[in-house]
Amino acid sequence: YFFTIFIISLLFIMIKPDGVQRGLCGVIIKRFERKGYKLIGLKMLNPTEEILKEHYKDLADKPFFKKLVNYISQGPVIAMVWEGVDIVKQGRRIIGETNPLDSAVGTIRGDFGLEVGRNIIHGSDSVASANREINLWFKADELIQWKNHSTEWIY
Ligand code: TYD
Repeated sequence: YFFTIFIISLLFIMIKPDGVQRGLCGVIIKRFERKGYKLIGLKMLNPTEEILKEHYKDLADKPFFKKLVNYISQGPVIAMVWEGVDIVKQGRRIIGETNPLDSAVGTIRGDFGLEVGRNIIHGSDSVASANREINLWFKADELIQWKNHSTEWIY
């Protein structure tokens, strides 16, 4: 027998400016909701270059770094924190590959994108980077712990 224990973790998601401007916020949120994940933080903001350089610091020496920071700093973006079982890995499956052209139909990037430089959405690539990104983008009191009481409202 092989057991895999799936633990509940957090994922940082950012709808990039192209996603916001193309009206894809609703469909993106829906895809995480319908999978069963729980939204525990959400805000719209115009990100500074400073926060974006920190967010993408591992890519600082890549040739596309400047363009990437410039594109996302156009804003606005929607930053979110989602919670649930195995969410970092499953979130990547919902989002697709870095390049929309490599992304399966049915994924967000595969369904809505064509360009790696306009790939609609960011999602953390590991539990460690999710925690780092959540601390960078959110204050503790901006994350809401809530309970689903919906069964009490069904008669
Ligand atoms: P990366 O962290 O490698 O991808 P992902 O967002 O899928 O985790 O890269 C960060 C972003 O940088 C990526 O979403 C789009 C941009 N990018 C480019 O513009 N050109 C490139 O060749 C790559 C690899 C990424």
